[in-house]
Amino acid sequence: MKVAIVGATGAVGHELMKVLENSTLDFSELQLYASPRSAGLKLPFRGQELTVQATPEGAIDADVILASAGGSISKALAPAWVAGGALVIDNSSAFRYDADVPLVVPEVNGQAALGHKGIIANPNCTTAIAVVAVAPLHRKYGVKRMIVSTYQATSGAGQKGMEELLEQTHMQLHGKEATASVFAHPIPFNVIPHIDAFQDNGYTKEEMKVAWETRKILGDENLIISCTAVRIPTLRTHSEAITLELERPATPDEARELLRHTAGVEVRDDPEAKLYPMPLTASGKYDVEVGRIRASLAFEGGLELFVAGDQLLKGAALNAVQIAEYLQA
Ligand code: HSE
Repeated sequence: MKVAIVGATGAVGHELMKVLENSTLDFSELQLYASPRSAGLKLPFRGQELTVQATPEGAIDADVILASAGGSISKALAPAWVAGGALVIDNSSAFRYDADVPLVVPEVNGQAALGHKGIIANPNCTTAIAVVAVAPLHRKYGVKRMIVSTYQATSGAGQKGMEELLEQTHMQLHGKEATASVFAHPIPFNVIPHIDAFQDNGYTKEEMKVAWETRKILGDENLIISCTAVRIPTLRTHSEAITLELERPATPDEARELLRHTAGVEVRDDPEAKLYPMPLTASGKYDVEVGRIRASLAFEGGLELFVAGDQLLKGAALNAVQIAEYLQA
């Protein structure tokens, strides 16, 4: 099997290579594509040097294409990749809401990808991280309402987002005024309740993605979801506070037990030992940390939890590779 990465030089592309390096996916060749200005660059992979090529306009001779170059490139080029016979696992939002495109988190709804040809969509990072923890609770207890507050890292805006945090922090510490370019305002020492474009209903697109995508992945159009998405000055892990109203009551102990046996989850929940999910401990980890599990004061029989997941891994590259692994297994 031949695998290609489109967008190989970006933050997600970099993580895709690292995840593939240690993956169980059986492939004989890895091709790297990026914008023409990166063509010729050599990147190390399993002891070899692979040369980055400019992304072609037409078909790519690969069985699986992991696309992470952004929505406009996927939108323009994915049809030609599919026509050329490739399966495209797309990290952008270009096709996520198409009825014939499965939106997949393998631990939750991997079967939706089985036998599928064409495009499979990788969810928005915030959604992928939340559903790993919420899906088993939804399956066992039924979720009626889900209220989410996010604390999203700068990596959500790619390599340039992380660079802006580091550069502006340095400037501000040296008394210089930082001018925002990636984010709506300077990000160091700040918290910005604005990710992606505002919609007519007053929510941002990032907030609505959590609602649209969670419903699609869980296959539950009746699930009521409300989200506030906030950018914070961390590097690569998204954290989320989640409140759940349940159809059948669950105790925190029952939820902890269920989550301890859930693939992709690490329960980190011992307040006395100061043990809970944090970007500091979740960054670089494949599992999503889940903790602060407690009975909700808002909804009788409901739950509150806090999750932290690496935005570049489970929120992007890892989930994409896991889809390919799931299909090959
Ligand atoms: N839209 C997300 C963010 C990235 O800005 O954090 C998700 O892949």
